[in-house]
Amino acid sequence: TTSRNIKRVGSVKQQLSRLVKESLESLFPDEVQPIVAACQAKFGDYQCNNAMVIWSQLKGKATQFKNPNSIGQAIAKNLPESEMIESTSVAGPGFVNIELSNKWISKHIQNMLVNGIEQWAPILSISRAVVDFSSPNIAKEMHVGHLRSTIIGDTLARMLEFSNVEVLRRNHVGDWGTQESISPYIKGPDRPCFVKQPVFGMLIEYLFEQFPNWEDAGDQAIGDLQAFYKASKKKFDDDPDFKARAQQAVVKLQSGEGKYRHAWQKICEISRKEFDLVYQRLNVQLEEKGESFYNPYIRGVLEEFERNNLIKESEGARVVEIDGYDIPLIVVKKDGGYNYASTDLTCLWYRIKEEKAEWIIYVTDVGQQQHFHMFFSAARLIGWLPASKDAYPKVSHVGLGLVLGSDGKRFRTRSSEVVRLVELLDEAKDRSRAELIKRLEDNGKITDWTDAELESTAEAVGYGAIKYADLKNNRLTNYTFSFDQMLNDKGNTAVYLLYAHARICSIINKSSKDIEELKKASTCMSWKINTGIGKIVLDHVDERALGLHLIQFAEIVEEACSNLLPNVLCEYLYNLSEMFTGFYTSCQVIGSEQEESRLLLCEATAIVMTKCFHLLGITPVYRI
Ligand code: ARG
Repeated sequence: TTSRNIKRVGSVKQQLSRLVKESLESLFPDEVQPIVAACQAKFGDYQCNNAMVIWSQLKGKATQFKNPNSIGQAIAKNLPESEMIESTSVAGPGFVNIELSNKWISKHIQNMLVNGIEQWAPILSISRAVVDFSSPNIAKEMHVGHLRSTIIGDTLARMLEFSNVEVLRRNHVGDWGTQESISPYIKGPDRPCFVKQPVFGMLIEYLFEQFPNWEDAGDQAIGDLQAFYKASKKKFDDDPDFKARAQQAVVKLQSGEGKYRHAWQKICEISRKEFDLVYQRLNVQLEEKGESFYNPYIRGVLEEFERNNLIKESEGARVVEIDGYDIPLIVVKKDGGYNYASTDLTCLWYRIKEEKAEWIIYVTDVGQQQHFHMFFSAARLIGWLPASKDAYPKVSHVGLGLVLGSDGKRFRTRSSEVVRLVELLDEAKDRSRAELIKRLEDNGKITDWTDAELESTAEAVGYGAIKYADLKNNRLTNYTFSFDQMLNDKGNTAVYLLYAHARICSIINKSSKDIEELKKASTCMSWKINTGIGKIVLDHVDERALGLHLIQFAEIVEEACSNLLPNVLCEYLYNLSEMFTGFYTSCQVIGSEQEESRLLLCEATAIVMTKCFHLLGITPVYRI
């Protein structure tokens, strides 16, 4: 396509950094990385903050500069000629304030309108990443913690994909071994005390016992897998014979005995179908490569550790000692079995060596942080990862805070069971449908809407509300799950934002001008011959503020990706809609002399908002 042939220029910040770099290169012999950032409006649009750092480095050396301010002056004076920059000024100890030219801002927006929002994709320094997210455990409930990981992981993947990174979206399901990972959402006997139990042996044995004709019976035989799990667990605890058989079953499964493998596959299949229901509703793509996938490689990986003398014996187990931790990383248990850590270590090896991923990102609750940091350290010891944590290949654990209920405790239903995700999604949709109908009845529009339209809007708003409520918080903090809050149409919510976007679309539709024609005219060509059509004018302060905010989209996505913080994008989106309101309040669009220019600003805002929704996994709505 055409947009692919057009040279990608990167974010405004990156473009300015290139200019600053040129200036610095001609002034200083040593390489200096440009420090450029957007700044408070009273100073300018951007600021270069190199002067003070350079001054402190020059201290004691013979130099032409008498103070940091004179360094700032020199940097400003040396900036190459560029249509980007309107003016510069130097303040205090050498801050170089940069004001962008209105003409360039307009052109930059017009370029996006003509060539598509892909023009504004940030340029990242990697080409392939793994995002390991969602990752529930077979036969157990996928809980709110997994929902959070699913939503945040999906957004991170979407942002990286938009930035032209190939993303391997991995569902690391717990489908093997003893399922040690512990969940803060599951209490009682399912928590750590069950850690060492042979889950799959127990499930398989129970299947054989309850459904002798399980192979033909189909999925209905098992029915509700959670109930099945509970019943088999009860038997396991109460019946020592059964327990012994379950333990035997694990051995048979692990040695690959046909009937046992087949039963295991069946159980995984049923679980998978349940997980897929959630993924489908949320429109999340994931490729399952569960723990079992890595099992055949564990031995080889541990041999590499043995060869490098990194494994010791400790209380009957095989362990890797990690600096900074009082306990070692157990990689072979006392009974000779592998565990969560040996699987993850092997999986990391696979992702680096076989899949050649440059950045591997894990999204789980923050409670698992130690596990991740320990096997990351082990990978550094053996040299799969560089010593510097910023160098590639790189690993990141994206830790998530808890989802809390209105009682301030971790989110559960009244019966103190974990909350069923499908029911949560249903409720969000039902509530948003009811709200929508009420709204449409109030303004007499209900008859214009088809049932299908109502349905898809209720879904977009309901699911969008759940996602946005999660994404807008800093991912490390706990947040309280509240339907009332997330479905409020005022404040920083998906409902407010989706409706704001729909309102912009209706402004564009109300105009008699053809927006597609205007966009087409918006090329640099027509700019040059100065027809005025398709030209964005930023004379009013609120027009300019909106224009400036629009063109900062790329660097926001870049920041959200590099720091793995989707809330940065949410904040940008919310500010964008506030700025649009500011603009719309002070600048008349339809019927004004500047109608064409202002319609283009509306269109650019709608496009950027749509892209934000898309990156956040939210479906935009176009009418309300
Ligand atoms: N199955 C684990 C859990 O439910 C999460 C797995 C995360 N990924 C990984 N590679 N350890 O807590």
